Amino acid sequence: MNSTMRSSPPPGLGSAAIGSEEETLVLDALRRGELFRYYGNDPAHPPPFAATLEAEAAALFGTRHALAVTSGTAALEVVLAAAGVGPGSEVIVPAWSWISCFTAVVRCGARPVLAEIDASLCLDPSEIARLTTPRTRAILVVHYQGAAADLDPILAAARTRGLLVIEDCAEAPGATYRGRRAGAIGDAGIYSFQHNKPMTAGEGGLIVTSNPFIYERAVRLHDLGQYRNHHAQLLPAREPAFAGGQYRMSELTAAVALAQLRKLDRIRDHCRTLKALIAPRLARLPQIQLRPLADPNGDYGFELYFYARGSEAAAAFRQKLTERGVCCQQRTGTYPQYRREYVINGRAAHRALSPFRRLFPWPARGYRVEDFPRTEALTTRFVALPLGWRYTSNDADHIAASVEAVHAELYG
Ligand SMILES: Cc1ncc(COP(=O)(O)O)c(C=O)c1O
Repeated sequence: MNSTMRSSPPPGLGSAAIGSEEETLVLDALRRGELFRYYGNDPAHPPPFAATLEAEAAALFGTRHALAVTSGTAALEVVLAAAGVGPGSEVIVPAWSWISCFTAVVRCGARPVLAEIDASLCLDPSEIARLTTPRTRAILVVHYQGAAADLDPILAAARTRGLLVIEDCAEAPGATYRGRRAGAIGDAGIYSFQHNKPMTAGEGGLIVTSNPFIYERAVRLHDLGQYRNHHAQLLPAREPAFAGGQYRMSELTAAVALAQLRKLDRIRDHCRTLKALIAPRLARLPQIQLRPLADPNGDYGFELYFYARGSEAAAAFRQKLTERGVCCQQRTGTYPQYRREYVINGRAAHRALSPFRRLFPWPARGYRVEDFPRTEALTTRFVALPLGWRYTSNDADHIAASVEAVHAELYG
């Protein structure tokens, strides 16, 4: 890098915005000495942080209920099981998604059925008609990197077939679709507080739903089958007890997560302002195409994608942008599932738990690279430009100018 080039700050969303608000709430939790959410020193005043996080999240996202859990992956496993996904069920999952979008379905004993994505890098709604069988129970929609999938046609296809829609908002909390918050539009939504997310507590997760059946079962699944008073006061119990796991959030985690939830829209507005400085300039360049979004107004704005003409052109862009100090990872924490080891070998923790064990030969059709020509073509030719809380308008200008310069270098 020569001296006239500047380097983009490292991406950082919630983690880059940690400050006095998190400190105040964490110190409060420590000073109370109540780190377990369900009881503390005074039965009349139970520990407040997980309960407040849930109340504020439900109000912000627009659902009747929210439930704090230990991770986004735990949220997926709990919500799928709560929704009745189990042995014999199938769940439609985008082939391009995070590891646990696939593994959570397998761990419920159900079969993930992989769908092609479209140019928005989210589930292609037309895949639902092709992939639904009498065993399909749900569609797991992943709102990829800040922007919502096209929920109207997805919901229409789901409703006519009696399928549930679970929204995975781990990468897009604070995104909206046609004026409504992602997570509150389908039957249930999940969020993650993992380190790389727009709101973080290092680890943590959240489930939102307005469906009483899913809520009560999720509470039981996350707390050893129990349904304690706190939840019974919000929604009286109707379901019988059953064996659950243990995925409760601690008060310390909840204190950080609550401070971060309160910053979600501020970080979003900052990212959107930066993106608005870059996107129109990139849209004018004839040899690249911006990622089309189902609802451009609802984008969280923390990552800007463009497609080059092919994978070699994308690699050239990435190399030359990196030389100019622009951070541009090729793939941002998401994978084509059919290239992952757990898909290639089709294993679960125990042979009898694998939903693939009756499919011969393995990998069967629908789990091989050659079955996903569109997902392969799209995900090998994009360039991802992260933005974040520490980025300034100068950084935005540098990113846009660098893409313009590399475009001119490559295409004259
Ligand atoms: C789309 C998506 N779903 C689920 C998760 C799981 O979240 P966690 O890391 O909190 O388990 C992630 C995390 O990276 C994700 O990107």
